[in-house]
Amino acid sequence: MARSSSSGSGQLCSFREWDTYLLVPSYLIGIRSYSAHIEPNAVNVVFQFNDLSIEEDLLSEARRKLYASDGDGFFIVRNFLNEAQLDHMRKVWTNPNVCANYLLLKDLTPEIIAKVGTGDDLSIFKPSTFLGAPNQFRIDERGNSNFVNFFWNEPSDEVTYTACLYAHTLRCRIEGRPPFEEIYTFSGNVAQFSVRRCVDAATVVRPHRDWISKNPLDKDSYQLQRLQITLFLSNKENDYLGTGFKFRKNTGEDVVFGTDVEVGAGDLVFWRYNNLHSVEQIKTRDGQIGFLRIVMPPEKVRPFVQINCVLSDGRDALGIATPKS
Ligand SMILES: [Fe+2]
Repeated sequence: MARSSSSGSGQLCSFREWDTYLLVPSYLIGIRSYSAHIEPNAVNVVFQFNDLSIEEDLLSEARRKLYASDGDGFFIVRNFLNEAQLDHMRKVWTNPNVCANYLLLKDLTPEIIAKVGTGDDLSIFKPSTFLGAPNQFRIDERGNSNFVNFFWNEPSDEVTYTACLYAHTLRCRIEGRPPFEEIYTFSGNVAQFSVRRCVDAATVVRPHRDWISKNPLDKDSYQLQRLQITLFLSNKENDYLGTGFKFRKNTGEDVVFGTDVEVGAGDLVFWRYNNLHSVEQIKTRDGQIGFLRIVMPPEKVRPFVQINCVLSDGRDALGIATPKS
């Protein structure tokens, strides 16, 4: 399904209307608001390349909270989304019609992985992540779903796309990297944004750490500056029950978001990827949307392998049979 027109269902939005939702931001960690550059009676609005910079003193608070040994290991940007943006995104990502924009993937069975195999070590790759990969959708028998989006694809919702792109640039700046790194695949990694909705599961994500391999000299897998992003689109109790997102602070204390840490729908959370984290014990009552959130994992990209997307009926998604080497 293509994007709806601006006067359509109202669930998805067009290029013309997204700026209605993207009100001028003034975030705590401070990319300077464009409004600061608009003179009251100016004929021309002046935008400068410097507007993409964030002054170091504005970043220092976030970095201290994230990285100091007595820090939380997370940093919350409250109300990253305003009410209209949040309401729009909740409607989009709970609308069954949005599935039509996505490639439905079967579970990655050993047979499928073997089909992909070229003799390389595939364990570091998600077999469905490659340069130019389509957006993908998975759902299990309980209704837990995951929409995986790459920035090179046409957005199925431009408010979500823009919010995630902006969140990613903020992450890069906190990490001390160029703001647009890993949107494409030049570095071998690519950031995607996954809209995940969990309605019923005991263990959603097992406790684990990322980017902290046993070999600290392995620069590809041992990176202490790495941050994950969670954009919360749901509220505990109102939208889901149970535990949800559990996280170990730099101090070693385990906390549950929505219980021990105040967090709500519309909040953006940066958190240290190296710290132990999990998503556990989700239940919903009738009428609740579930634990709805967006996470943005950078993935290693497997270039030039195109056989690794398989439709639900077993056909190769792209119709390209790449022979094994
Ligand atoms: Fe993780």
